[in-house]
Amino acid sequence: MISSLVLFSALAIFSASGTPLTSSNPLGLGGQFDVFARDVAISSGCSTTGTASCHNTSAVSNTCCFEAPGGLILQTQFWDTDPSTGPSNSWTIHGLWPDNCDGTFSENCDPSRDQTDITSLLESAGASSTLSFMQTYWKNDPDDGSDEELWSHEWDTHGTCYSTLRPACLPSGSSSGTDAVAFYETVVRLFQTLPTYTWLENQGITPSSSTTHTLTSLENALAAEAGVTPMLTCDGSNLNQIAWYFNLKGSIIDGTFVPIDSPEDSDCPSSGIEYPLKTGSPVTTTSATGTKTSTTTTGTSTSTGTPGSLPTKAMIVAIDGGAQVGGLLTLGTWSTQTLATMTLAGSTSSFTMTSSKGSCGVSGGELTCGSGVSATSFTAVSSGGNLLLASGGSTAFSSTAVPNGETVETVFTGSSKAQAYTLAIVST
Ligand SMILES: *[C@@H]1O[C@H](CO)[C@@H](O)[C@H](O)[C@H]1NC(C)=O
Repeated sequence: MISSLVLFSALAIFSASGTPLTSSNPLGLGGQFDVFARDVAISSGCSTTGTASCHNTSAVSNTCCFEAPGGLILQTQFWDTDPSTGPSNSWTIHGLWPDNCDGTFSENCDPSRDQTDITSLLESAGASSTLSFMQTYWKNDPDDGSDEELWSHEWDTHGTCYSTLRPACLPSGSSSGTDAVAFYETVVRLFQTLPTYTWLENQGITPSSSTTHTLTSLENALAAEAGVTPMLTCDGSNLNQIAWYFNLKGSIIDGTFVPIDSPEDSDCPSSGIEYPLKTGSPVTTTSATGTKTSTTTTGTSTSTGTPGSLPTKAMIVAIDGGAQVGGLLTLGTWSTQTLATMTLAGSTSSFTMTSSKGSCGVSGGELTCGSGVSATSFTAVSSGGNLLLASGGSTAFSSTAVPNGETVETVFTGSSKAQAYTLAIVST
């Protein structure tokens, strides 16, 4: 198994510095964000408005609410093709590593808190949807061992090094293992905001047995989507791993991850990089990553979440012929690009919807969101395991064509246009 020791032992020391993010990036991380809704509400009680980790100029005394010394945090992902693991249209989780601010790191910080049987731990904590996501997206190389072995390795080796996860930092009365449960939940939620496959695909880069890429083209494509540059890792000429870097405000449990450029150079060759095909199936239902699914796959039904209650933050996903095909962008258009996070206010019987561009409303049979748009009231209807968006009581929406790549389509209410679909509300 590749550990951070292997990956980083040859790397130079650097000094970390935060990178200002452009607010004009509509598709990517768009600055700071909170870790999304989780199965189990574990609250650190920490503020997220203070100094980001690695940015303090004097000692911070409360390291329950300030990650130190491991304040340079990497969300690492695999692109495993030999053998293939996980969905053919998604990278998979490797881990979430706390490097020191200078790029050195500690491992195996508290063996007394090591865990085995992560499945039972998560099940008994009520974190079954986190577990089920992990079963699809957190895959070990079968030559190295089981998924369970990777999960415990990542907690034992890296998770026990987070200062903000020490048992003394958890709410009083927390049961043993709550630290690890919080870790797995955070890893999953953060990974869901980092859809590397979709970001590359949005930039026209998909796995291929015949194309090669320059390192610069891959880095630029990802930076255009995410707003920050990740670190890519290759095995020879094969792209096989990525690290997205963050500093943290508050606790790993529920803090705010601040994306930063990788302080390390990628270790791939400068050209001739292959992004090999995976065997296996694409994911056809996704979490709230905005992960696009192919319009040519699946006739199976898509379930996008728990119907019933109205989430306050959601992506609006289009369901066409049982398959998920993109969803709404910030202007209320339909696209297969990374989806907007909408803010919903009200209840299923009447709510308003707002994107980062402004209110959403229907006027003249056309849905738009923006600063000059007057908000109209929507309802939400439970149907077939989904919570569907409805306007004027109807869940039918249509466009003149199915979007593809960078194209966007206007969303009309009703089914009068050539391509009819429903819009599911997926909690983020
Ligand atoms: C930041 O705070 C941590 C934790 O108190 C401390 O170890 C570190 O030395 C501080 N960094 C600076 C530059 O003072």
